Amino acid sequence: MSTITIDPQRVEDFEQQLVETINHGALCLMISIGHRTGLFDTLAETGPVDATALAEHAGLDERYVLEWLGAMTAGRIVEHDPETGAYDLLAEHAQLITRHADQNLAVYAQYIPVFGANEDDILTCFREGGGLGYEHFPRFHEIMEEESAQAVIPALHPRILPLVPGLTDRLERGIRAVDVGCGRGRALNELASWYPNSSFTGYDLSEEAVRYARETAAARGLDNVAFHAVDAARLAEVEEPGAAQLITTFDAVHDQADPDAVTRAIRRTVADDGVYLAQDIDAAGNHGDDIDHPLGPFVFTASCLHCMTVSLAAGGAGYGAMWGRERAQTLFARAGFEDVEVHTFDDDPTAVFYVCRPQR
Ligand SMILES: C[S@@+](CC[C@H](N)C(=O)[O-])C[C@H]1O[C@@H](n2cnc3c(N)ncnc32)[C@H](O)[C@@H]1O
Repeated sequence: MSTITIDPQRVEDFEQQLVETINHGALCLMISIGHRTGLFDTLAETGPVDATALAEHAGLDERYVLEWLGAMTAGRIVEHDPETGAYDLLAEHAQLITRHADQNLAVYAQYIPVFGANEDDILTCFREGGGLGYEHFPRFHEIMEEESAQAVIPALHPRILPLVPGLTDRLERGIRAVDVGCGRGRALNELASWYPNSSFTGYDLSEEAVRYARETAAARGLDNVAFHAVDAARLAEVEEPGAAQLITTFDAVHDQADPDAVTRAIRRTVADDGVYLAQDIDAAGNHGDDIDHPLGPFVFTASCLHCMTVSLAAGGAGYGAMWGRERAQTLFARAGFEDVEVHTFDDDPTAVFYVCRPQR
């Protein structure tokens, strides 16, 4: 009979790890609230203030603001001076948690309550299989748009478009570009405004996201971009073969119900001298190698509670966000892309770009 020896130090270390995890999980909820209420922005604008003044400036209930400040202070996000009663958001922190920030990490904290809200229904999926469709995620497109605005848009010119030599020249001269799974159209509207000689079409399953994208395009006076609520697996019904010189997907393949149908349809639509540029989450695709993924716990959670489940809800493949490079490359090759280049950037270890060409 084997006996298990318990290492008390390991127990203590794990207890510490769990306590920190629970604290950080709770803080994510409060960071999301701080973002949505504008409390971080208000605090950055006012400088050191007491709870009463902060609540007044933000137009919020003081009692709730005070309790939120308690969590922010205990979480070392906001500084508190017990002498004066003032709360302060350090400039260094404001750079990462306000709407003025280049990378506002509070945007990502919003996913935690959005995913957590479905816990009861996800429990049913754990027991019975199946999935939860997009209708279970009412704020998803809104958050995704905020993410796209800071993660994709600023990288388009300096990094993403140059992955395809000559692409910006072709866009300047005028080509047809299609974005599949365009969400609220943030990237496509931006591209349309930069390249007036080119024409752009965005497709997404979501009527709500497409309506928003159209309204934004109209408000910006863009007449070279159109958005349609279409299932990308049925792209062949709305696009002629070879009709686009550029097709993009930004984080829109791994959560497909039928990734093969979508990538085959993309291959059919892209011109022989064109290119398909796909951004996805970088991962090895196996738990052993992904243990050191910088956002591993977050992405696996997001995948289980969103990306994988929306695909399974439609009877789909359920690849999940951590599907990995190998499966992605195999998928693109199976769709008929003869040449698939893989690109990453050292300072963004979570994103991978596939440049897929019909011919070598
Ligand atoms: C993770 S979001 C990315 C959205 C957008 N590309 C961005 O970066 O903000 C994936 C998008 O793919 C869309 N989508 C999923 N399956 C689709 C399908 N079969 N046809 C069209 N759009 C689809 C979803 O509605 C969602 O907007």
